[in-house]
Amino acid sequence: MKELKEYVRSIPDFPEPGIIFRDVTTILQDADGLALSIDGLRAEIKDLEYDLILGPESRGFIFGVPVAYAEHKPFIPVRKKGKLPCETVSMDYDLEYGKATIEIHKDAIKPGDRVVIVDDLIATGGTIEAITKLVESLGGEIVKIAFVMELEGLKGREKLAKYDIASLIKYEGK
Ligand code: PRP
Ligand code: MG
Repeated sequence: MKELKEYVRSIPDFPEPGIIFRDVTTILQDADGLALSIDGLRAEIKDLEYDLILGPESRGFIFGVPVAYAEHKPFIPVRKKGKLPCETVSMDYDLEYGKATIEIHKDAIKPGDRVVIVDDLIATGGTIEAITKLVESLGGEIVKIAFVMELEGLKGREKLAKYDIASLIKYEGK
């Protein structure tokens, strides 16, 4: 069986010259790749005690929901601005290529909830840093952050140094 990394398609000069885009769609469109990614994420959290899994729109949904389903845990969506219908807390953050705002329903996390965050990729760490602030503003405790891929050259792990971080695939560059 192939390794998970072999399912990732690398596209040079996308979306900008000099950037290599790491495409997860080629993981998803292969049943073995999909299973490897979800099982790999599950293995990272299997011994933890936690209450819920949270993932950011949109690629965090793709990987977070199957993990939550398989582990029989609730899934909390973090959405881009203006999509959630009830009372929210929101946070602005910097992306590798711009700015964004994310939101979470206020009643989705209760004080003392132990939270696992799942996303496809840690690049600069800006997205997840914003999410950690949202979770903690609601009284949640982050017990693990699990990614499919990590771009080590962007040093997101340093930004999130106080958290327990796992990534299934590591790339040295950006
Ligand atoms: C991408 C990726 C991660 C984030 C990583 O999401 O899916 O969530 O960027 O970058 P960072 O570590 O520098 O914050 P994007 O905002 O492009 O949206 P998408 O998931 O909807 O494609
Ligand atoms: Mg994303």
